Amino acid sequence: MNSESQTKFDLIEYLHRQAGVVDRALDRYLDYAAERETIFRAVRYGVFPGGKRIRPILTLATGELFGAAQQNLLPFACAVELIHAYSLIHDDLPALDDDDLRRGEPTAHKVFGEGTALLAGDGLLTEAFHLLSGPEVSRYIGPELVLKLIHELSGAVGLAGLVGGQALDLEAENKVVDLALVESIHARKTGALIRVSIRLGAQVAGADAANLDRISRFGTALGLAFQIADDILDGLGETAAGERAESARLELKKATYPAVAGMSQARAKLTELLQTCLHELAPYGGAAVPLRELACYVATRALHQDASLPSEVKI
Ligand code: IPE
Ligand code: IPE
Ligand code: MG
Ligand code: MG
Repeated sequence: MNSESQTKFDLIEYLHRQAGVVDRALDRYLDYAAERETIFRAVRYGVFPGGKRIRPILTLATGELFGAAQQNLLPFACAVELIHAYSLIHDDLPALDDDDLRRGEPTAHKVFGEGTALLAGDGLLTEAFHLLSGPEVSRYIGPELVLKLIHELSGAVGLAGLVGGQALDLEAENKVVDLALVESIHARKTGALIRVSIRLGAQVAGADAANLDRISRFGTALGLAFQIADDILDGLGETAAGERAESARLELKKATYPAVAGMSQARAKLTELLQTCLHELAPYGGAAVPLRELACYVATRALHQDASLPSEVKI
């Protein structure tokens, strides 16, 4: 990054602003405030106040890189966050990771009971596709492209992607696994949604095949980096926010990169993936500064425990 953009770009401010945009749109799409039924409250509980909103911010940042209007990216950005929220509610259930806390608060099943939490997850997943297949999108994107994007998103979070990855993750508990399997689990359970968040933004913007390929390679590397970073932080007993780790994965002996390869190899792999991310973004120069800083943020929060200043990344 040149020194000019380094001084000008404030990632924290950017994340804050973009998360605000996403939150307002999510609030509008999930306008259930007046609803008294428990399921609506459980759905909103899974989405608000939410977390970092990394995936929708990636959709916005990628779409904006290739020239799309923010307004046209928002339904896609929100759909990926709804799916993310569903995946976390289900991930925390006793049948999966059995976690009591998420983002420092009681998990949905602890508040609403397992049945309602399960259904809130089902509801979020379904509403994501309801949003994308409806007038919010069809008023500005033609049916052929909408169908293609819905097909791609559902593929990324279905058996070949998130759900299949979660199934492998479950099966791998307490087993001896090799690194290839760990990488494949990560690529599916976490990487696929991150990669598709990026690809949706690019395709709404009409990116050509070469750019779509390049940004997809960025997405693949970032997706794997994201899970390795998360597992490093969990292994250190820290979360991104510096809280105590909430996951029960250590006790469950999950297939994680630090567990299988050791902490220093996990960090080396994370560094290598960050370099790949930066390499793929290099041709876009200053226009890709938000994506570049996001990638640095994802990696450095785990590479340097004290890395709370993403603009000062030094690898
Ligand atoms: C947590 O994702 C689950 C993983 C894929 C590791 P995030 O770290 O993006 O969660 P929030 O939404 O910011 O809490
Ligand atoms: C992340 O799950 C992947 C999905 C939820 C699909 P993890 O179990 O690895 O992440 P945390 O630690 O619960 O956030
Ligand atoms: Mg899990
Ligand atoms: Mg978990």
